[in-house]
Amino acid sequence: MIPELEKSTVRIREPDRVKEIISSLRDGGASKLQVITDFDMTLTRFANNGKRSPTCHNIIHDSKLVSEECRIKLKDLLNTYYPIEIDPSRSIEEKLPLMIEWWTKVHELLVGQRIQKSKLAEIVKESEAQLRDGYRVLFDKLHKCNVPVFIFSAGVGDILEEIIRQVGIYHQNVTVVSNFMDFDENGVLKGFKGEIIHIYNKREGALRNTEHFQQLMGHSNIVLLGDSLGDLSMADGVQNQENILKIGFLNDKVDQLLDKYLASYDIVLLSDETLDVVNGILQHILNPGQ
Ligand code: TMP
Ligand code: MG
Repeated sequence: MIPELEKSTVRIREPDRVKEIISSLRDGGASKLQVITDFDMTLTRFANNGKRSPTCHNIIHDSKLVSEECRIKLKDLLNTYYPIEIDPSRSIEEKLPLMIEWWTKVHELLVGQRIQKSKLAEIVKESEAQLRDGYRVLFDKLHKCNVPVFIFSAGVGDILEEIIRQVGIYHQNVTVVSNFMDFDENGVLKGFKGEIIHIYNKREGALRNTEHFQQLMGHSNIVLLGDSLGDLSMADGVQNQENILKIGFLNDKVDQLLDKYLASYDIVLLSDETLDVVNGILQHILNPGQ
């Protein structure tokens, strides 16, 4: 029924269960559906021809808005903390304070750079930001079918919004929750708004957005897209869940992490740089006549 599920990148622990969920999502149709998705390395590529694609943070770090000295410090932080983020041998509890440390240090360094709001569009244009193949089909389809999309990112909201605005997919059915920059009256970065969203506190962030989800009361069916085990709690703010299909992109440390991913994501995509499988499933759910 869904040819994309035959791709060699697809792994499923319980195929019958997945079939059942997809069938329930199809029965519910567009009017009951919402999509909750991570951004960096889920909607964007992990790598392109072997070269890592930038995250929202890295677009700033690699830009001309940051001094060489600061760039070195940010790289050191990435080299210290990213291996911890994906370390299969450490528990989430153990990683949590270290992730807060990483985000806090990075944000402090960025504030020290007196970044100007007016320059953000330019650095995104000059960056190698790359959404996964099939992003336009995905966003246009969800827009056409009035399916709410909640992008929930531990990246930098201002950069994220600029990326999706520049490629023309920031449709009115899309809501972004992320770390947003706070600027002073001269448009210079003075901090970040609200609580830090990092990779392992998305549950708290999701619960803070209960009001948003209450407005979507009828949308009790969810397709969740993520690339980290921390992304699994992104839908925890939805109180009236009926059916949820969790699709996980496993980009890095594939061999060591596969079992963990299979245990928690319904569908795991191994080093798949496209949105083919997501689009195949949504096509099936949203076109019940076919
Ligand atoms: P996400 O929630 O949209 O995936 O964004 C979080 C990603 O950002 C996570 O994989 C770690 C990454 N990151 C960087 O690349 N550089 C940084 O300085 C920080 C703080 C996070
Ligand atoms: Mg991610």
